[in-house]
Amino acid sequence: MTGTRVVVLGAGGQVGRALTRRFPGAEALDRATLDVSDAHAVRHHDWSGVGLLLNAAAYTQVDAAQDPANLAAVRAANVDAVRNLAEVAGRAGATLVHFSTEYVFDGTHPGPMPEDLPTSPLSVYARSKADGDRAASAVDRHYVLRTSWVVGEGQNFVRTMASLADRRVQPAVVADQVGRLTFADDLAAAVAHLVDTGAPYGTYNVTCDGPPSTWADVAEIVFASRGRPRSAVRRVSTAEYFVGRPDAAPRPLNSLLDLGKLTASGFRPRDWEPTLHDYLGTLPPPGSSGHCR
Ligand SMILES: NC(=O)c1ccc[n+]([C@@H]2O[C@H](COP(=O)([O-])OP(=O)(O)OC[C@H]3O[C@@H](n4cnc5c(N)ncnc54)[C@H](OP(=O)(O)O)[C@@H]3O)[C@@H](O)[C@H]2O)c1
Repeated sequence: MTGTRVVVLGAGGQVGRALTRRFPGAEALDRATLDVSDAHAVRHHDWSGVGLLLNAAAYTQVDAAQDPANLAAVRAANVDAVRNLAEVAGRAGATLVHFSTEYVFDGTHPGPMPEDLPTSPLSVYARSKADGDRAASAVDRHYVLRTSWVVGEGQNFVRTMASLADRRVQPAVVADQVGRLTFADDLAAAVAHLVDTGAPYGTYNVTCDGPPSTWADVAEIVFASRGRPRSAVRRVSTAEYFVGRPDAAPRPLNSLLDLGKLTASGFRPRDWEPTLHDYLGTLPPPGSSGHCR
């Protein structure tokens, strides 16, 4: 008999906030309440009666992770912490839900990437996430959700583009990385679906559906929604974008995740484009006092 407590870790992040909304009875633990990198704190936390552990905590600064000075922090949050949480879940007989990324792949696969493609991470962050996936998979009852291009409550690409549009900046945006946005609410809905339906444990790709796009395509939609011309977005290649940025982490060109396993489980993710329009409708209008930061 497993417990009934639901705990969200990393509750202050984009995904953590969406999970907290989706599971209203859950205990929402942000970094200040429980630093998952602190093995002692994790071990001594009261996990009695926990049935579902939702781990949205992660070191997510992809470029900063390349700095050797940050390596210990990256590994502590994205690998060691996951191992400790897997142990907690195993001991409690709880289900561990963990989030991962298409960055575990190098992006050279032609077309949508299935869950069982061998990992081939290009960056320090990506390697830590691939190792974290393995750590989470060590517990029998686990769901690892691999996602991409997340948009939720908090700082993200869409908000950044809206802010640039409002300030009449004409940004260079990468036009050769292909993928799909994922709204944090869809990710949380997918978690609820997998858990509620008792879907087989394992790894699932979870993104929004719809035609593949590029960051530049998304930026143009955002600019248009802010009353700016699409041509204000300067479409550049990844190689051009990273000229003069030697410390930036390499990114995969293909971010497209195959959704066959997810849809076979009965979950239909929303299409990214209409969902993006809905999201844009929730942002403060250009020129209003609520800045779009
Ligand atoms: N964002 C994306 O585009 C994307 C794409 C693919 C996969 N993912 C994965 O999705 C998951 C959620 O990401 P997100 O988009 O919600 O990122 P996020 O907004 O950066 O949230 C991550 C949260 O984890 C917290 N955190 C970091 N280290 C922690 C620690 N040691 N203990 C407790 N909390 C800690 C952060 O707190 P602070 O703010 O205090 O640092 C932040 O609230 C991650 O596993 C990420 O790898 C994200």
